[in-house]
Amino acid sequence: MVPNHIKSIAVLTSGGDAPGMNPCIRAVVRAGLAHDIKVFGVEGGYQGLIRGTFRPLGARDVGGILQRGGTILQTARSTEFRERNGQREAIRQLNNAEIDALVVLGGDGSLHGAMKLAEQGVAVVGVPASIDNDIFGTDMCIGVDTALNTIVDGIDKLRDTASSHSRAFLVETMGRNSGYLATLAGIVTGAEMVLVPEVATPVADIAHTIEEAYLRGKTHAIIVVAEGFKPNTTELGRQIDEMDLGFTTRVTILGHIQRGGKPSAFDRQLATRFGIKAVEFLTRGQTNVMTGLNGREIIPIPIETVISQPKQVSMEYLEMARMMAR
Ligand code: ADP
Ligand code: F6P
Repeated sequence: MVPNHIKSIAVLTSGGDAPGMNPCIRAVVRAGLAHDIKVFGVEGGYQGLIRGTFRPLGARDVGGILQRGGTILQTARSTEFRERNGQREAIRQLNNAEIDALVVLGGDGSLHGAMKLAEQGVAVVGVPASIDNDIFGTDMCIGVDTALNTIVDGIDKLRDTASSHSRAFLVETMGRNSGYLATLAGIVTGAEMVLVPEVATPVADIAHTIEEAYLRGKTHAIIVVAEGFKPNTTELGRQIDEMDLGFTTRVTILGHIQRGGKPSAFDRQLATRFGIKAVEFLTRGQTNVMTGLNGREIIPIPIETVISQPKQVSMEYLEMARMMAR
């Protein structure tokens, strides 16, 4: 039940951290103050909710965090919260602290968790924050743009050394089961090929693309591989290296550097807008929704709809990557 006038809300960050979570926490706190709402930060995601680790957040507590990566509230992956008992305990803690509503910043899993709370009567608003950009109902999640910029920086550097040595580089990006990051990275770095979990690609085709690049006189071949692609990048590198394709092969797994660093200008503004909207939705009684970026607009999307379907990487983007690699 949502009270007529929300007096206090809590905010938590959950799942994999994403650059831009801090600007969003800041926005929730300051928008809350503007609406005369008390804001509590929950430390350690859903695990913190179960433990009741709440702390009041004022305007000064969120000063100087706009430019910081990670999350000042800490995040967690909580197995306890997946169980009904954990969820019940979390709700008991919210009631004890007299918190009227909860803002959840996180990825797909965190939104599934938010839905469980909503089903049990908690007023929730979700904010999509995950570098994977795999959440249905929003064009972009917080953190994607910064992660992409980090990937571009890495691949540009790898291209320098690849060209100097006439090498093929297999570069693995994150994204869990989504090929979004890999595809966009392929487009904006001019990669020779992009491999994503959504599209099965035989090793023989990959080898052919590398050899073709060599025969066309290219000094390097950059293949961006999404982490969910099968076979995995290390195994793929081993198989490619055994073939005589002109280039020698190296594998680089970019790893968790993709999740760190200062949020980009885009992520700061998106996070700020999402945070302000999340509070606004609550004040209007719009609960159990996620803030979704739809073109230039931010709209409320029922969390139930968000978690009902996976977001696939656009085939149009994949085709663009293919068309540009000549
Ligand atoms: P992300 O939010 O980045 O996708 P996870 O998938 O790890 O990260 O989810 C974060 C947390 O959300 C999990 O550790 C768990 O506590 C909670 N969660 C995920 N899925 C569910 C679910 N189906 N039911 C309840 N809680 C869930
Ligand atoms: O969801 C964000 C993400 O970075 C995925 O891209 C990746 O598969 C996963 O989290 C890695 O999780 P962990 O930080 O637990 O290794």
